[in-house]
Amino acid sequence: MTQQDSSTPYALITGASAGLGKEFAKQLAAKGLNLVLTARREGQLRELAAALEKQHGIHTLVIPGDLADENEPERIHTTCQQHGITVEWLINNAGFGLPGEFDAHPWPEHKKTLQVMLTAPVHLAHLFYPAMKARKRGYILNIASLAAFAPPTAGHTLYEAVKSFLVKFSQSLHLEGTDHGVHVTAVCPGFTYTEFHDVNGTRQMVSRLPESMWMQADEVVTLGIAAAEKNQDVCVTGGKNRFIAWLSSALPDRWMRKLAGKQIQKYRKR
Ligand SMILES: NC(=O)c1ccc[n+]([C@@H]2O[C@H](COP(=O)([O-])OP(=O)(O)OC[C@H]3O[C@@H](n4cnc5c(N)ncnc54)[C@H](OP(=O)(O)O)[C@@H]3O)[C@@H](O)[C@H]2O)c1
Repeated sequence: MTQQDSSTPYALITGASAGLGKEFAKQLAAKGLNLVLTARREGQLRELAAALEKQHGIHTLVIPGDLADENEPERIHTTCQQHGITVEWLINNAGFGLPGEFDAHPWPEHKKTLQVMLTAPVHLAHLFYPAMKARKRGYILNIASLAAFAPPTAGHTLYEAVKSFLVKFSQSLHLEGTDHGVHVTAVCPGFTYTEFHDVNGTRQMVSRLPESMWMQADEVVTLGIAAAEKNQDVCVTGGKNRFIAWLSSALPDRWMRKLAGKQIQKYRKR
């Protein structure tokens, strides 16, 4: 076990209390990075931080908070500055699904979706990118989804739109960052075993999907980190998912909607 200096760079991970975020924490700690962990469930974060400190001799900072609060990105950034932390990896991962049709949800729920999954990642990137650029070294991973490439479906109305935005945003910032040593990557998982479908109440529905459509969180994260290190702008995780994404770009939109749209709709709650 090597004891890291607190001046060793940090990885800041949103949504680190579960699923992909927790796995990013484990894999980046194993690389020797110190960690800033944030999410709402403080207990889970502290437990993870203690285990990784013990296992890898790293430093951690836990910042519990709700990204639905528009002031949260600024608070996270200020807290990092107060602790003299250099964030080298920013993992914009926190997210959730909101099943059901657009008008079935009151505006505050849509607003929260946009704040947590769209505004907060962009705001955090805007806060941390300049220092990465100045140091000529940094990694920003935006966890999008295969849904960004798949045909549109009814239900989960904002999810595909938000994830498409994250892909385009990542691609543009990737072009800007490359000249300055900052790698920006949109990681696009397909169905992955995490708490995601338990939280949004669609576990039963999606469990009808063939086993071969699912990936483990550790595989997804390993591929995402490798893609960022290679400075890929987009990483669709897994061969099947890459084929679906490729098909979506290769076929005319109306064909893809006919071919796959109805299939995907079976797993979307309206
Ligand atoms: N699992 C999949 O099949 C799949 C597929 C494609 C893309 N994704 C994307 O992958 C990312 C991670 O999801 P996951 O699958 O790991 O789901 P998960 O296991 O449910 O984890 C979601 C994480 O986001 C955090 N979070 C949710 N709302 C938050 C809020 N308001 N403020 C702060 N943190 C919040 C949760 O922490 P707290 O509850 O403690 O706040 C949790 O740590 C998401 O962006 C998701 O859209 C997942």
